[in-house]
Amino acid sequence: MKINDLSRENLPRHIAVIMDGNGRWAKNRSMPRIHGHQVGMDSVRAVISTCAQVGVEYLSLYAFSVQNWLRPETEVRALMLLLKTFIQKEIDNLHRANIRVTTMGEIDRLPRDAYELARSGLEKTRDNTGMVLNIAWSYGGREEIVRAAKEIACKAARGELDPAAIDERCVARHLYTADMPDPDLLIRTSGEMRISNFLLWQIAYTEMYVTDVLWPDFREEETLRAIAEYQTRKRRFGRTDEQLSVNA
Ligand code: IPE
Ligand code: IPE
Ligand code: MG
Repeated sequence: MKINDLSRENLPRHIAVIMDGNGRWAKNRSMPRIHGHQVGMDSVRAVISTCAQVGVEYLSLYAFSVQNWLRPETEVRALMLLLKTFIQKEIDNLHRANIRVTTMGEIDRLPRDAYELARSGLEKTRDNTGMVLNIAWSYGGREEIVRAAKEIACKAARGELDPAAIDERCVARHLYTADMPDPDLLIRTSGEMRISNFLLWQIAYTEMYVTDVLWPDFREEETLRAIAEYQTRKRRFGRTDEQLSVNA
């Protein structure tokens, strides 16, 4: 499948991706896990470029979870270095492509130099009007909800917010994704049927697409396949089929 084969109707506005399977990809080739992460960076580039060309408005990539800090130190260090290299090498290309880079998660836990780089990358692309590339780094869905709850509680304690006025919109406004629509499509590579603490609140009605393809092999063609599959889905949001055809 090529980009021009994809229907432009019913495109997902927001795609979220759990980029999984780098370690297994490398292991299958008797290589160290880190090699899988390195090759996986080419998939990151391919998916960003495909989504931008197709006209996806928001792309959220799960790059490193809060729980991934528990991995061996050498692997954590290699992943930090990869993020840094990615920003160094790609930020100009992203900027030229009018992509706005944002992050969600505890990015202040990054090593100082990577943190500074990430901040300057965000700053540089801040006013871009094309696709939003949202990188989840040291991110956890539960941690995000706890953080929102704390902020809301603090505002209530200071008298800035009436507890009776707390509703879904109020909670959503205190999440990292406050300015984004919920994901329409969640892609997970490498076959695992779980969420692994990604965007717990936001995926309430997101369409899921799980593929056995390992992340380093997930490129343009696989991205298009996932979007095409999404376009065949019928989203009911709790209603009946009959109601949907009346409203159509
Ligand atoms: C995903 O690949 C990348 C990160 C979680 C950072 P993994 O490293 O989890 O690869 P597998 O799941 O062990 O194959
Ligand atoms: C999810 O993958 C996190 C990222 C892709 C960054 P993991 O490999 O950490 O998930 P589990 O441990 O298999 O659930
Ligand atoms: Mg994994």
